Amino acid sequence: MNYSIALVPGDGIGPEVIAPATEVLDAVGDRYGHVFNYVELEAGGAAIDSTGEPLPAATLEAATQCDALLLGAVGGPRWENLPGHLRPERALLGLRAALEVYANLRPAVLLPQLRSACPLKDEVLSASNHEGRAAFDLLIVRELTGGLYFGKRGRLEEESDGHRPGAAFDTETYSWREIERVLRRAYAAAALRRKKLCVVDKANVLESSRYWREVTAAVSGDYPEIETSFMYVDNCAMQLIRGPGQFDVIVTSNLFGDILSDEASVLTGSIGMLPSASLGDIVGGRPRGMYEPIHGSAPDIAGQDIANPLGTILSAAMMLRYSFGLEAEALAVEDAVGAVLDSGYRTRDIAARSAAGGEKIVGTQAMGKAVVELLETTRNF
Ligand code: IPM
Ligand code: MG
Repeated sequence: MNYSIALVPGDGIGPEVIAPATEVLDAVGDRYGHVFNYVELEAGGAAIDSTGEPLPAATLEAATQCDALLLGAVGGPRWENLPGHLRPERALLGLRAALEVYANLRPAVLLPQLRSACPLKDEVLSASNHEGRAAFDLLIVRELTGGLYFGKRGRLEEESDGHRPGAAFDTETYSWREIERVLRRAYAAAALRRKKLCVVDKANVLESSRYWREVTAAVSGDYPEIETSFMYVDNCAMQLIRGPGQFDVIVTSNLFGDILSDEASVLTGSIGMLPSASLGDIVGGRPRGMYEPIHGSAPDIAGQDIANPLGTILSAAMMLRYSFGLEAEALAVEDAVGAVLDSGYRTRDIAARSAAGGEKIVGTQAMGKAVVELLETTRNF
């Protein structure tokens, strides 16, 4: 089969982590007889520099026509002082909104090979894990196209607190439909996992959170095999570091999901390991999808060949699974990443805190090459 992939390398380490991901995809294509056609698109700071706007109409148009979109990262200090609507981040938000990819799946898994890169103590990890293992496997489902990120916002010039004139506001608004569709996605994900869903909110204070609970009460009846629970977001932030093993699927609003997924990522050893899939409605049997590592553009390490490409490679695996329905291929890539770690390859960010024997510290490109090489040794290949 032929697949068209919109490729948005973006800024900072974006292009460096996208390149190995395409090499891995090409190796998968060769082996399984697929052709991946890349349509490289400009967005973010790179697009601001060449066109004056973060999300040129041509990018948006092409992105909606491809089968899936793979993005590196956008943003950087060079564009930080631009007004809100011209910042590189607008490109991300604009793509998410235009593609209507409302369900953002962010798996946070502590692989046994990276145990020593996790900052939690053994007692904490194994105590929270129902199987007594020093590892965890959770999935954050973040609502991605609503809430505070897209609510009414503005400035109130006439207001005054007596010192300086003016005020600013952002609003959290969620419709029943927006909540229901992301909840159903989260329930579907939980059904394929350990069958636990935790709705994270601030229902003791926020009306919008109380509305999430109402919608959950109505929807949960359709999923009797899933155990539904609720947790306040402040408690969840604490529970994630007290015992991440207690969670299976967490579903939450756009802002809370943004914050909690960064927190969860540190527990996996490095933010550089975490992939994400942003999914929309099912069209022609498959959801619209946009795939990106969660780490961002990391301008401080850009251009040095030290960034970890595994988050992007694992995002490409999610693309194979969700957008193209290529489960065996996705597993092959995930297995290859495991095999690379088993072989001791580490980018700097996931190197053991204390010197451990057998580790080979490699750069971005070498890590990508190692995954391609080890692909051939995995059981699914
Ligand atoms: C993320 C990022 C983005 C977000 C930024 C870059 C706009 O932090 O994908 O988590 O807040 O959604
Ligand atoms: Mg974030």
